[in-house]
Amino acid sequence: MSKSFYITTPIYYVNDMPHIGHIYTTVMADILARYHRLLGDDVRFLTGSDEHGQKIERSAAAQGIKPVELADKVVARYHHLWKVLNISHDDFIRTTEDRHKAAVHEMVKRITANDDIYSGEFTGWYCAGAEAFVPDSKVKDGKDLETGYPVERLSESSYFFRLSNYQEPLLEWYRNNPECIQPKSRYNEVVSFVEGGLKDLSISRNTISWGVPFPDDPKHIVYVWLDALTNYISALGFGSDDTKLFDEHWPASTHLVGKDILRFHCVYWPAFLMAAGLPLPKQIFGHGWWMRDDAKMSKSLGNVVRPDALLERFGADPLRYFLAREMSFGQDSSFSDQAFIERFNSDLANALGNTASRTLAMAGRYLDSKVPAPTKDGPVPEAAVTAVTKTMALMDELKPQRALEATWQLLTVINQYIQESQPWTLAKKGDEGVALLKTVLYTSLEGLRIASLLIEPFMPETAKKLRAQLGAADLPVDLKDATTWGLLPEGAVMPETEALFPRVDIKKFLKELEEEPVKPTAKAEKQADDMIDIEDFMKVKLKGGIVKEAVRVPKSKKLIKMQVDLNEAELRQIVAGIGAAYEPEDLVGRRIVVVANLKPAKLMGVESQGMLLASSLDGAPNLLAPDGEVPPGTGVR
Ligand code: MSP
Repeated sequence: MSKSFYITTPIYYVNDMPHIGHIYTTVMADILARYHRLLGDDVRFLTGSDEHGQKIERSAAAQGIKPVELADKVVARYHHLWKVLNISHDDFIRTTEDRHKAAVHEMVKRITANDDIYSGEFTGWYCAGAEAFVPDSKVKDGKDLETGYPVERLSESSYFFRLSNYQEPLLEWYRNNPECIQPKSRYNEVVSFVEGGLKDLSISRNTISWGVPFPDDPKHIVYVWLDALTNYISALGFGSDDTKLFDEHWPASTHLVGKDILRFHCVYWPAFLMAAGLPLPKQIFGHGWWMRDDAKMSKSLGNVVRPDALLERFGADPLRYFLAREMSFGQDSSFSDQAFIERFNSDLANALGNTASRTLAMAGRYLDSKVPAPTKDGPVPEAAVTAVTKTMALMDELKPQRALEATWQLLTVINQYIQESQPWTLAKKGDEGVALLKTVLYTSLEGLRIASLLIEPFMPETAKKLRAQLGAADLPVDLKDATTWGLLPEGAVMPETEALFPRVDIKKFLKELEEEPVKPTAKAEKQADDMIDIEDFMKVKLKGGIVKEAVRVPKSKKLIKMQVDLNEAELRQIVAGIGAAYEPEDLVGRRIVVVANLKPAKLMGVESQGMLLASSLDGAPNLLAPDGEVPPGTGVR
C-alpha cells in the first residue's frame, strides 16, 4: 500500500481578495503534492476558506451584505484562481459547511470530556483584525503593536482551554520530534515561546454571532482559531460517520503556513489535538513573507501584488516557477516585476526554451523530426542522474528553490554539450558524422525528457508540452525511475510546435504594466479618507449613460472598450478594467453612471474619454446603475 502524504494550506480569510502571498502558500503546497504523486504516494491535498469571526462579520456589514454572501463571492474568486493556477487540491473546505461544524463540535466535546475546558470570565485587549486577544505588553495607544489594528477592551463570560496543562507535553513533543517544526529557526522560536510559560486560553465569545455555536451552550461561539484549525480534520470526515479518509490520512504530513500563523499551528493546534486524544501532525513548515519591492505588502499601502495581470499575460507556469525559484523556502523575499521578467528571460526563455528549441530544430532539419536509436554520450547522462538525485533529495528536505537549481544544472550541461559537439557541422561529415550527429541529438533529447520529469511538479503544463514536443507524450510520468536512460523510443515523431517561452522585451513589458489601470496608491487612499467640500464634489460631472457597443481591448483580459450614449453629438469612448467580471455582450444596453469631465487618458494605448462608476471589492468590479430608466445624459447628484 502506498504511503499517505497529506498536505494542507492555511484556510484563507474571506474578507480579502487573494494576492501573491496567499497564492504562494497554495502553489508551494501544490508543487509538493504533485511531487509526492510522482513518487507514487497516496496524496491528499487540502485547501479552503476561513469564514467565521468578527473580522468577516464587520467587512460584510461595511459592504451592506451578509457574511455568507461575502464569503461566497471571495470563495468563487479563490476557486477561479486555483483553476487558473492549475492547483490540484483534492478538497476545498469551507468552515461554514455542516461537515466542518460537526467536527468542531466533536473536538469541543472531546476536550470537555478530558476536563480541559472550564467556564470563567475573561477581560483583555481584543484585536478584531488579528482575531486574537493581545497581551498588555503588545498594546500601545489603543493599537496592536504587531498588526497595527485597533484593540478593544473586552470582558465577557467565556469558556477556557487549559493550555497551561500542555506546556510540558508540548515541550516533550518538540524535543522528541526535532523535525516537527521547520525551518530550524522557527522551531527555536516556538520552543522558547512555550518555555516562557503558557496561560489558559479563552476559546469562546458571546458577543458575536457569526461562528460555530458551542455544543450545549449556543450563546457562545467557538473561538475562531479552534474553529479554523479543526478544518484539517473536518475535511477528512472527523466527527462524521465516515472516517475512512481520516483513518487513511491523519496525522498530516505537512501543514504549510506563513510564519505569522506559526504559533497557532505549533502551540494551540497540537495542544487541542492532545486534549482531544488525537495524533499530532508530523510537520509544520513556516514559510517567509513576500514583500513588494522590499516593502511589506499591505492593503492600506496599496502595494499588494495581485496575480491577475501576470496570469493573463503568461499563464500559470511562469508565476509558479518564479514563486518557487525566487524565494528561499522559509525566508522573506521581495516581488518585483523586473525580477519576474529577468527570471522569465534567463531561466525559462533562455535556459529551458532555447535549449529545447535548438535541439528540436536540429532534429527537424537533420532527422526529419524522428527520434534516432537510443544511445548515450558525453557528460549529459551522468548530469541527468545527478540532477534527479539532487532534485529529489532537495525536495524531500523541503528546499524547492535549490531543487530547481539542481534541475537547471542539467539544462546547462545539455546546452554546453550541444555547443561543444556542434551538431550542425556533423551533418556534412559523411556517415560517421551523421552517426555522431544522431548520438548528440538523442543524448540531448533524452536529457530534456528527464528534465521534463523534474520540472513536472513546478510547471505541469510546460512539462507536458515539452514531452509532446520530444515525441514522449505517451511515456509514463513518474519519478521512481527517472534515472533510467534511453526511454525515448526510436522513431517517435516530434511534432512541430511553437517555442515554450518566447523572450519578453523588459522595457516594453514594464511600460505596458504602467499603462494598466492605475491602482490606488497609499497617498491616494489617504486622500480618499480626508473630507472634501461640496464645491470639490460639484466639480465632478456625473451623468447617466447607456452602453451601445462593447469590445475587449486586444491582449488585455481586464480592459473593455465601450461606446456610451450620454446624449451628446457623438458616442463617448470609455475604457474600463471590468473585463474579469463582465463579458462585453452583457454590457451592451446597460445603464451606467459616468464621470463625464475627466481628462482623457490612454489605457494600453486606447483612449478613454471618461470613467464609469463601479464599486470594488478589492479589485473585483460591480457596476453602479441608476434605479430605473434614467435617460442618457441626465446629471447625477
Ligand atoms: N485564516 C487564517 C489561517 C487559518 S489556518 C487554520 C489566515 N488567513 S490569511 O488569509 O490571512 O492568510 C493565509 C496565508 O497567507 C497565511 O499562511 C499567511 O502567512 C499567507 N500570507 C498572507 N500574506 C503573505 C505574504 N505577503 N507573503 C507570504 N505569505 C503571506 O491567516
